[in-house]
Amino acid sequence: MGGRLEDRTAIVVGAGSVGPGWGNGKATAVTFAREGARVLCVDINQAAAEETATIIAGEGGTAEAHRADATDPAQVEALVARAVDLWGGVDVLHNNVGIVETGGPVETEEAGWDRVMAVNLKSMYLTCKAALPVMEAAGRGAIVNISSISAIRWLGVPYISYAASKAAILGFTRAIALQYAAKGIRANVILPGLMDTPMIVEPLKQAYAGGDIEEMRALRHAQCPMGHMGDAWDVAKAALFLASDEARYITAAELVVDGGLTAKVS
Ligand SMILES: NC(=O)c1ccc[n+]([C@@H]2O[C@H](COP(=O)([O-])OP(=O)(O)OC[C@H]3O[C@@H](n4cnc5c(N)ncnc54)[C@H](O)[C@@H]3O)[C@@H](O)[C@H]2O)c1
Repeated sequence: MGGRLEDRTAIVVGAGSVGPGWGNGKATAVTFAREGARVLCVDINQAAAEETATIIAGEGGTAEAHRADATDPAQVEALVARAVDLWGGVDVLHNNVGIVETGGPVETEEAGWDRVMAVNLKSMYLTCKAALPVMEAAGRGAIVNISSISAIRWLGVPYISYAASKAAILGFTRAIALQYAAKGIRANVILPGLMDTPMIVEPLKQAYAGGDIEEMRALRHAQCPMGHMGDAWDVAKAALFLASDEARYITAAELVVDGGLTAKVS
C-alpha cells in the first residue's frame, strides 16, 4: 500500500465492471484504495459494486459498495450524502460511467441517443452538482472525468452518440475547472484510447457483426503504435496521478492515455 491518497475519501462512479476481469472503474477504485483512500464503490449493478469493495477489503483497504443509477438525481444526491455520512466529505470524485451504442445519426434511435447522453454526460453533471458544494465547503477536491479519444478522433466505427457525449465531457470539465480554480478544486479529464477491458466486447460484436471476438481484439491491438491495447490499470494510474496532490497545479487538463494512437497518421 502507498499513501498518495492517504486520509482521502473517493467516490468512484461506475466502480464495477460490465464483464469478468478489470474494467477502468474497478481498477481505479482498487488503485485509489491501495494508495490509502476510503472508496465508495458506486455502480448500478450491486453485485459488481460489491465485488470491487470486497477486493479492496480483502487487501486491507476501506470501501463500501453502494448501488445507484448515476442518471437519477435523487440517487446521486444520496450517494454523495452517504460518503459524507460515512467519512465526512468527498475529496475525489471519479466519473467512470459510460456506455457505447453503435450507429450514425440515421441508424441511431432517439431513445438510444438520449440514453447515451444521460449515462455518459448527464451523470457527470448530476454527480458534480451534488459533490461540488461539499468540496467547496472543505476548500479542496479533485474531479476526474473519463472521456475517450472518440471525443477528438474518428475511430473507424460510427458511434455518433458516444463521440458527441465524450466530446461534451471536455467542455464540461474545462468549465468546472475554471469556475472552481480559485476554490481549491481541480477538474481534469482522461481520454483513454483502445483499452482491453470487458466493455469492448459488446461494441466489437455490434461493429463487426459475425466476426470472431479474438480476431477483432487482434485488429484493435494492431491499430495501436505500441502493438497492443492499453488496459484498465493504465487508466487507473493516470486517474491516481490526477486525483493526488502530485497534480496540485494541474487543472483543466486533457490527458490522453492511448499509447500514441491519436498522434499517429495512418
Ligand atoms: N474500454 C475502452 O476501450 C475505453 C476506451 C475509451 C473510454 N472508455 C471509457 O471508460 C469508461 C469505463 O470503461 P470500463 O471499461 O471501466 O467499463 P465498464 O463498463 O466495465 O465499467 C463501467 C461500470 O459502470 C456501470 N454503470 C453503467 N451505467 C451506470 C449507471 N447509470 N449508473 C451507475 N453505474 C453505471 C456498469 O455497471 C459498469 O460496472 C467509460 O466511460 C468508457 O466510455 C473505455
